[in-house]
Amino acid sequence: YVSLFGSDDLKGMKITVTAGPTVEDIDPVRYITNRSSGKMGYSIAKRAIMRGAEVTLISGPTSLDRPRGVHKFVQTSSAESLYNAVNDNFEDCDALIQSAAVADYKPKNYSKKKVKKKDGDLSIELARTKDVAKEMGKIKADKVLVGFAAETNDLLQNAQRKIESKNLDFIVANDLTKEGAGFNTDTNIVKIIDADGNMEDYPKMSKEDVADIILDKVKAIIENQ
Ligand code: CTP
Ligand code: CA
Repeated sequence: YVSLFGSDDLKGMKITVTAGPTVEDIDPVRYITNRSSGKMGYSIAKRAIMRGAEVTLISGPTSLDRPRGVHKFVQTSSAESLYNAVNDNFEDCDALIQSAAVADYKPKNYSKKKVKKKDGDLSIELARTKDVAKEMGKIKADKVLVGFAAETNDLLQNAQRKIESKNLDFIVANDLTKEGAGFNTDTNIVKIIDADGNMEDYPKMSKEDVADIILDKVKAIIENQ
């Protein structure tokens, strides 16, 4: 049980959290992004701070206030800038909780001039972005790596594939087909799937309660190492 006023059960732990979307510019006025309010990541940062952890929050653009007591806050925009920020802060953390919604593709060529509208359709060529989680998975060492996944179908198989390819300790999956899960809500309905294939199903709860469950699992893994 964790009191509303916080405890110190995560004292001494350095936790880095990624949150929010990435934005990939097309031209000076247009971009490609992913749906994400940042609420889940900010809730994790907030709860981790209240429980005594040293928290680094790496965040794409959101409308949320910077959590009080955050040790370090890094503002990012593109997937590339998220990668750089995570990479720079990786060495010095015990756990990396990756709730950022990273764009998988970016415009292949950025246009410095605004693209003018013409008659007919427009195609924009897209190139893959860096998979930040996968890159960090390659240099994991004894750090706890947590991923997120928002799925519409084949949730379990997709989650297991991501755990393997990104070398995650566990993944928090939300089922977008359920009301009260996912984007821009204060609640979430998640399943947590770990590297051993265990799956836990949670009922609808606040994002702060989901945060505490995630942090409890991170703490247990660190303590059992
Ligand atoms: N992720 C990342 N870098 C990317 C894409 C995803 O770091 N370029 C991270 C996310 O922050 C998340 C996890 O990987 O923690 C899973 O993201 P998700 O989009 O569900 O997985 P993908 O591998 O991109 O697969 P797909 O979008 O096809 O489902
Ligand atoms: Ca993706």
